[in-house]
Amino acid sequence: MFKINDNYQKLPGSYLFSTIVKKVREYQEANPEKNLIRLGIGDVTQPLAPAIIDALHGAVDEMGNAATFRGYAPDLGYEFLRNAIAENDYRARGCDISPDEIFVSDGAKSDSANIQEIFSVENKIAVCDPVYPVYVDSNVMAGRTGTYDPATEMWSDVIYMPCTKENNFVPEFPKTAPDMIYLCLPNNPTGTTLTKDQLQEWVDYANKVGAVILYDGAYEAYISEDNVAHTIYECEGARTCAIELKSFSKNAGFTGVRLGYTVVPKELKCGDVALHGMWARRHGTKFNGAPYIVQRAGEAVYSAAGKAQLKEQVAYYMKNAAAIKNGLQEAGYEVFGGVNAPYIWLKTPDQMTSWEFFDYLLATANVVGTPGSGFGPSGEGYFRLTAFGTYENTLAALERIKAM
Ligand code: MLT
Repeated sequence: MFKINDNYQKLPGSYLFSTIVKKVREYQEANPEKNLIRLGIGDVTQPLAPAIIDALHGAVDEMGNAATFRGYAPDLGYEFLRNAIAENDYRARGCDISPDEIFVSDGAKSDSANIQEIFSVENKIAVCDPVYPVYVDSNVMAGRTGTYDPATEMWSDVIYMPCTKENNFVPEFPKTAPDMIYLCLPNNPTGTTLTKDQLQEWVDYANKVGAVILYDGAYEAYISEDNVAHTIYECEGARTCAIELKSFSKNAGFTGVRLGYTVVPKELKCGDVALHGMWARRHGTKFNGAPYIVQRAGEAVYSAAGKAQLKEQVAYYMKNAAAIKNGLQEAGYEVFGGVNAPYIWLKTPDQMTSWEFFDYLLATANVVGTPGSGFGPSGEGYFRLTAFGTYENTLAALERIKAM
């Protein structure tokens, strides 16, 4: 009789956003007349920018012509895209990342889940709490997290680094040295971030204890403050301790298009073994590349027209973020984030749990958000709203919340 990967049986409940979708569907079926406003999952609502649409059309035409048709993409991604990434996301910021250290993929969710595969199951992971659930769940699937305690909602072998209003959402160095440190900055879900100096301390710490930082920079385009790093490679020493994961979903609206990349610097080694070679081997074996059409669309993100159009798109969402932040503050809520990230993190009122507030908001205001506790035990008593809705819906949601 075959056996299954028992680690999957250890996972409590379903994936956070699947649970929310199910709850919302049930509510909508029971109340078909209600007009729900969805500010839950961080999914974009604005159409793709014209420069990207043009690139997609052009690439589709190329695929319909024998002279320009393309089959399998190169393992690491097309050079035209890796060059554009290296130039714009790194060299323009004074960071020494070469195109062959960039691995193009179908998005940061899969990369952030898959990257743990190249590390030993014996490694100890450290995560911020609250945290993007993919980091923990993918390590559970791999058998790296020990046993789950339903009372504390914690895994025995995971190091949790609480990020709450008490410590200004700045994680402290763990008492036991971890081997793998997940950092998402600007942060999902809290919408807060670290300064470049604070990030430098993490890079120094990782180099000192021999840990690798898995750095998720999916929300980098939303940084508005000067003292925040746009990439971890702005920090000295990051090339020997950090892998960076990037997404086109939030900066360019590719949630339904799918494109991302991972940077593995060649100096990043375990003894004599370079992680670059390992990830290249993994990529080559398990992945056949993001579609040519999509990689051309990604290239257009870095064109002059693309950059200008996407700057406007990011500003559109950040106008929502400011409206949510200010509106909730006026209504007496305690709110965080929303300055360098498109997420607003609020304290639930009247000692409500995160899920109580979720139900209350859904039933009373017909607004969908995300319960903070779904991101980890330190998220209990908090709630996340996304700025990725339309401006009209965002304002309408605020009116409803104020009227509760
Ligand atoms: C979120 O809402 O946290 C994100 O949209 C989920 C994701 O990017 O996969």
